[in-house]
Amino acid sequence: MPAIVLVGAQWGDEGKGKATDLMGSDVDYVVKFNGGNNAGHTIVIEKDGKREKYALHLLPSGILTPTCTPVIGNGVVIDLAVLFEELDGLEARGVDTSRLLVSANAHIIAPYNRVLDKVTERFLGSRKIGTTGRGIGPTYADKMARNGIRVQDLFDEKILRQKVEAALAFKNQILAKIYNRRAVEVDEVMDELLGYAERLRPMVADTSLVLEKALNEGKTVLLEAGQATLLDVDHGTYPFVTSSNATAGGACTGSGIPPTRVDRVIAILKAYSTRVGEGPFPTELFDANGEFLRKTGAEYGTTTGRPRRCGWVDTVVGRFSTRINGTTDFVITKLDVLTGLDTVPVCVAYDVDGVRHDEMPVNQTDFHHAKPIYEELPGWWEDISTCRTFEELPGNAQAYVLRLEELIGARVSAIGVGPGRDEIISRHSLLGD
Ligand code: GDP
Ligand code: IMO
Ligand code: MG
Repeated sequence: MPAIVLVGAQWGDEGKGKATDLMGSDVDYVVKFNGGNNAGHTIVIEKDGKREKYALHLLPSGILTPTCTPVIGNGVVIDLAVLFEELDGLEARGVDTSRLLVSANAHIIAPYNRVLDKVTERFLGSRKIGTTGRGIGPTYADKMARNGIRVQDLFDEKILRQKVEAALAFKNQILAKIYNRRAVEVDEVMDELLGYAERLRPMVADTSLVLEKALNEGKTVLLEAGQATLLDVDHGTYPFVTSSNATAGGACTGSGIPPTRVDRVIAILKAYSTRVGEGPFPTELFDANGEFLRKTGAEYGTTTGRPRRCGWVDTVVGRFSTRINGTTDFVITKLDVLTGLDTVPVCVAYDVDGVRHDEMPVNQTDFHHAKPIYEELPGWWEDISTCRTFEELPGNAQAYVLRLEELIGARVSAIGVGPGRDEIISRHSLLGD
C-alpha cells in the first residue's frame, strides 16, 4: 500500500542512510531513485555488543535489512566497478546481497565520463563545482543528450558498440583537443563494460513493474534520495548542484512509481547545516563554532573525505524544502551535536542588501548576498544521547525542536540523538498513523 519518499532537506549528509536503515524492517522495498556513487551513507549497527560501521555509496541503505529488497531505479547512474566492489565488500562481512534488483533503464557511468568529470573541474579552476569526480555530471548530460549507455545495452553487444563508438567519436575530440588527454579506445570501453554483463544479468529487472505489483499487494516501498533539496538540478543552488532530481518529484521519474501512489514524504534535516563542495551557504561559520560542529559532528565526507563546511541551522532552507518536497514529516538528526552551547542560533530569514527575505530568494545572485537573520535560543548541557522520549530531553532542547517545527512548516516525527540505530526519539510513526 504505502509508497514513502525520503529526501534530504539541506545540502546532503543529513543522515538519510540512518533513517532508511531505521525503517528497514518495516519496509519491503528500498529504492534508490537518483544519483550514483557520489552519495555516501554511513550506517552504524550494534552487532554482538559491538558497533559496526557500514559506508554505502551506490547501494540502497535497505540492503542491510534481510527482509527488504533493495532496488536501483532507472533514475540512477551506475559505476559497475563500484557496484560489484560494494557488493563484494558487504558479502565479505556476511551481508546477503542476493535480493538486489537493478533497472534495465538505469544509465551506466562509462570510464570516459569519470575522466571528463575530473578534467572539466580542473579546467574550470576557481569556477569549479567541487564535484565528487565520479562522472555523475557527464553521465546525466549524456542521458539528456540521448547518447548515454543503459544497463540493457550491455546485453546487446552490437548496440553497445554502436553507442560507444558514437559517444567516443565526439568525446575523444574533446579529450584530445581541449583537455590534451589521450583518446579512449572503443575496445577498452567495450571490454570493461562487457566484463560485468554476466554478473549483472540476474539482477536486471523491469523495476517499475516489480514496484507496481508490490504496491498492489500492499507492500511498503521506500524511495530513498541521494543528495538533497539544495543540490537538486532544478531547485537547488544551480550551478552548484548535482545533475539529478534529488527532490520528491525525482522519486517518481527515477523509479516509475506515479505521484498518485506516494502517501508521504519524509525530509531529513540536520540540527545544523553542512555543505561539501562549492556554492553559496548563508549560515556558514568560519570561526571556532564551525570547527566545533565539524569536530563534534565528525563532518568529513563519506565519499571524498573532504572536511564539510559547517554552519547553524537555516529554516529558510527548511521551509523551502517543505514547499518543494511536500514534506509530511521531518526527522531532525544530530541534535546531540549541539549539546554544550550557551545559545544556539537559528536562521529565520535573510537580509539581502538591506531587504528582509522570509523565503528563498528566487534570484541566485541575491542568495549569494544573503546574510542570515538569527534568533538565539538557549542551549543545554545535559548528555541527550540516552533520551528515548521527547519528554526526557532537556527543556531547552525540546524548545529548540519545537521552534524548528514551527519555522519549517511540518511536524517533527523523529529526532536523532546519536549515530547508532537505537539512538533516536520517535514522536510519530514514519510509516503513517
Ligand atoms: P547521508 O548521506 O544523508 O546518509 O548522511 P551521511 O551518512 O553522509 O552523514 C551523516 C552522519 O551522521 C553519519 O556518519 C551518521 O552515522 C551520523 N548520524 C546520523 N544521525 C545521527 C545523530 O542523530 N547523531 C549523531 N551524532 N550522528 C548521526
Ligand atoms: P549524500 O547522498 C553531499 C555535492 C558535491 C558537489 C556537487 C556536485 O551523501 O547526501 P557531483 O559529483 O554530484 O556532480 O557533485 O554535489 N554532492 C554531495 N554533497 N552529500 C552528497 O550525497 C553529495 N553528492 C554530491 O560535493 O558540490
Ligand atoms: Mg552522505
